[in-house]
Amino acid sequence: MPVGRREASPGQCKSKPGTLRRKSFGQWAARPAFSRCRCVRTRGRCRLQGICFWKKARRLFWADPDLSEAFLMLVLGIESSCDETAASVVQDGRVALSDVVSSQIEIHRRYGGVVPELASRNHVMQVIPVVEEALSKAGVTLSDLDAIAVTSGPGLIGALLVGVQTAKALAWCSQKPLVGVNHLEGHLLAIRLLEDAPEPPFMGLVVSGGHTSLFDVRSFGDYRPVGSTRDDAAGEAYDKVAKMLGLPYPGGLPIDRLAKEGNPKAIRFPRANIKGDGAEFDFSFSGLKTAVRAWVEKNGCPEGQGLCDLCASFQEAVADPLTRKAVLAARRLGHQKVVLAGGVAANSRLRGLMQERARSAGLSLFLPPIRLCTDNGAMIAVAGTHAFLRGERAGMDLSASPGWHLGTPQPRKTFG
Ligand code: KG4
Ligand code: ZN
Repeated sequence: MPVGRREASPGQCKSKPGTLRRKSFGQWAARPAFSRCRCVRTRGRCRLQGICFWKKARRLFWADPDLSEAFLMLVLGIESSCDETAASVVQDGRVALSDVVSSQIEIHRRYGGVVPELASRNHVMQVIPVVEEALSKAGVTLSDLDAIAVTSGPGLIGALLVGVQTAKALAWCSQKPLVGVNHLEGHLLAIRLLEDAPEPPFMGLVVSGGHTSLFDVRSFGDYRPVGSTRDDAAGEAYDKVAKMLGLPYPGGLPIDRLAKEGNPKAIRFPRANIKGDGAEFDFSFSGLKTAVRAWVEKNGCPEGQGLCDLCASFQEAVADPLTRKAVLAARRLGHQKVVLAGGVAANSRLRGLMQERARSAGLSLFLPPIRLCTDNGAMIAVAGTHAFLRGERAGMDLSASPGWHLGTPQPRKTFG
């Protein structure tokens, strides 16, 4: 049995959600099994082994992620990059003790898309109640946290700033470490909240309203972009096509529902064929959107079965290149595992086709549950936990970086 497991008394330290609620440091310290963990951590030295706690934590975390449970790390994740204000407390990067999401969908629906200024204003009103609810549902206070993680890019500048400034204020007043998280890393690591979560390396496909990218995930913190959309994101195409068809925003779910009753072969919409060096795994959806517009202009906006057929045909033209390229890239780079992430990963056809193609290519596919596909605070807390364990810390000069590319360092301060 590894030394770390014995020292940390996993029988008592490994908590089930809801059973271990840290009310205050004093209360933890009073529990014999935890007093040792907490003493080790707060003194910064391992009493038993005489090595730095963080070195040990990192070593054990990489050796066996389950062992990290023995450290009872609590991270608050705050997300406000688009139209969801979300916060969550995650234990050891594996268990969400709370996950609160306040959606602005109703506010933006009447405009058929996100209005950035309205999004920022609503984040300002929602962020504190959402954080308070996340802490109270997890049964912890700010002082119980080990770190505060916040999405610092990419996203809408005004929206990001609300989360970043809130996290900075909370970190400053509680004297807790602060970590800036890339939103796409959050999406990729949301899968870690599953019980049978995959370990890197894996091929990650992030498909959301703002992004469509393939990443070669070599290890936590090592993300190499393999391909991405040249124009619209897949979710953006869903939202724009839905608007053309008179369906509500966000368009993904209504199109998905209608498509279930339709014939995907009814209309042959184009698939982008992107040529050129290194473009093999890139995507493009603006031509598809234009093709749908041209079809509607020529034939009129369909109703009933015609609408279902159009939705199914459009959906097929989105799911086909995404799944084909994800499988191809995984095989090319020698991956055994594929992880689907982002709001569009909730799509039933994308999930189904990905399962079929992954199976026939002999790949293991990992699909997050629907609630973890769209934006949430838990994914930011998970990514924040890993960044924290890697030693990443943000200062009070943490900025919001609307164009931060995952796989590159966060650009230096521009705002905030
Ligand atoms: O990840 P997310 O919540 O926000 C961004 O980071 O962009 O993704 C939102 C996107 C929206 O474009 C929405 O239409 C799409 O995810 N979406 C779906 C489905 N559910 C949400 N797209 C296709 N099928 C769905 N079932
Ligand atoms: Zn997102």
